[in-house]
Amino acid sequence: MEIVIVPDAAAGGELIATAIAELFTRKPDALLGVATGSTPLPVYRALEAKVEAGTLDVSRARVCQLDEYVGLPAGHPQSYREVLLREVLEPLGIPGERFTGPDGAAEDIAAAALAYDRELAAGGGVDLQLLGIGTDGHIGFNEPCSSLASRTRIKTLTEQTRADNARFFDSPDEVPHHVLTQGIGTILEARHLVLLATGAAKAHAVVQAVEGPLCALVPASALQLHPHATVVVDEAAAAELRLADYFRATYAAKPDWQSL
Ligand code: PGA
Repeated sequence: MEIVIVPDAAAGGELIATAIAELFTRKPDALLGVATGSTPLPVYRALEAKVEAGTLDVSRARVCQLDEYVGLPAGHPQSYREVLLREVLEPLGIPGERFTGPDGAAEDIAAAALAYDRELAAGGGVDLQLLGIGTDGHIGFNEPCSSLASRTRIKTLTEQTRADNARFFDSPDEVPHHVLTQGIGTILEARHLVLLATGAAKAHAVVQAVEGPLCALVPASALQLHPHATVVVDEAAAAELRLADYFRATYAAKPDWQSL
């Protein structure tokens, strides 16, 4: 696992957007897995700036969702499909036909989950999956004690996650209890995992995921199993890392030819 400590969220966004731009240069029809929440927004703004500057061509880019609320009506402004259309697809000029996600409004949720895993595999798999981390260590909506081999399925949110996400809704009671999320096993199939964590509230989850034991209690620790996982953290989120100086020295000494 590579840990990159950046000065702030904007620097993290730029670094990851540059890696995504390199991916689309190498593979114009790459499948990019995107995440919701506040953390990835600097990545999306940096991507938008590259498209505007003409240094990023997304004319064949494909995009997929990590997770979705269950039970919000299709088109609900806080459904993750709508959030990502607003924050990513529209600003980058990528049409909805090249964007897919699990159907949280499906009548048969189990079938929708299975169909999504099959669709990702049929599409050749995810090339780069962007991830955030919950204060409870979740990735996607794989809450603590999710199976490390799990596939896309329905999950119940912890009260901590519902409280964390209440800011997006008019009242905390409106936050759904259930979600469809790519499983940890599904996430681990992406060719490159890039987790961004910013702010002091994430410092404990980050140290557990990166330096703690591999365990289902901390779902993000599953990144330790992946052959190409990058964790980008700002100084505040890096505050509890024991090996911070080593990570800084390693990144500073990184050969120029090696990207993230
Ligand atoms: P946040 O959410 O970026 O809004 O903190 C991260 C997550 O829950 O994965």
